[in-house]
Amino acid sequence: MHKILHNKLMREEKLILGIDTSCDDTSIGLIDDQGNILENKKFSLDCKKFGGIIPELAARMHLDYIDKIFLEIKEKYKEIYVICATIGPGLISSLIIGSTFAKTYAKITSSIFIPIHHLEGHIFASPVNKYPFLSLLISGGHSDLYLCESFGNYKLIAKSLDDSAGEVFDKVGRKYELDFPSGSHIERLAHNVTKKIEPMIPMKNKLQFSFSGLKTKTLRIDDSVENVAWFLQESIGETIKEKLQMAIELTAVNHVVVCGGVAANKSIRAKIQSIENIHCIFPPIELCTDNGVMIALAGLQHYKNETSFVNNFELEEFSRMQLDDYYSSFPGKK
Ligand code: KG4
Ligand code: ZN
Repeated sequence: MHKILHNKLMREEKLILGIDTSCDDTSIGLIDDQGNILENKKFSLDCKKFGGIIPELAARMHLDYIDKIFLEIKEKYKEIYVICATIGPGLISSLIIGSTFAKTYAKITSSIFIPIHHLEGHIFASPVNKYPFLSLLISGGHSDLYLCESFGNYKLIAKSLDDSAGEVFDKVGRKYELDFPSGSHIERLAHNVTKKIEPMIPMKNKLQFSFSGLKTKTLRIDDSVENVAWFLQESIGETIKEKLQMAIELTAVNHVVVCGGVAANKSIRAKIQSIENIHCIFPPIELCTDNGVMIALAGLQHYKNETSFVNNFELEEFSRMQLDDYYSSFPGKK
């Protein structure tokens, strides 16, 4: 009780709330105007029994949990100054729940609303303070490499032509009936490798990613799940390292921000860190997978940079859009 009162009475800073409902997690985070994390709450739909995400169920879950999580946070803090929500890419029915909640709250309370591109959220989960940098986004939906020249100035230089790295972890996990998403389980199993199968680097000497051949090969290996897990993790790690080395040579930019769920993998982190002369930043492990804090952190950047996304209630939710196209689709943005 004392702590709650203390928070309510003493906090004078501007609080920024971030909501992410792009997929099957209802995530809300709260930061102060210095970027300090005050709250990071998440509710995840248990996809085990479905073997994947069912959009209709995800949307219903967001509807059930968003108020509950929000009220738990609101109980402890004073007014929310800025409220941000993911506007895309993601499942439209799920995105609508989070963004409509945020827009409505902002209108009712006269606070500021900022729509956020989910991938920009992943980037700013790390304490980014130096431009230019390369951003490697490795998640369930993306394996993208962006050159970030300044805030809001992003150029896609490589992407996956088919499956993303996270998708391959999840599809191989499904074969072995691991919990979904499977990346962290595969990482755990790979520790117990007994036979190291020679890793595969798809699209060697090309900047683009393509993981579907690796997926097919992994699914066909007849060996223990631990050995298969090690092979897959090692192959993805080596592939990422090779592409990143090429991108650094091509752009002469060696500051790299690695983000997205797969960035939580310690073996893949170590491989990236082993690149000569690289300066890399990783988000804290708990901010790698989807969360509301990263949406609030990206919102703080928009607020500080006074972009035209601030108080833009017009944007509509979208299921797919590259980050560079997002900026170029909205003229007069900065
Ligand atoms: O960023 P994220 O939470 O959601 C998307 O925006 O897609 O990423 C989820 C992906 C899943 O495919 C999951 O299997 C993978 O990140 N992942 C991992 C690990 N933790 C999560 N992959 C490898 N190793 C991990 N420790
Ligand atoms: Zn994500």
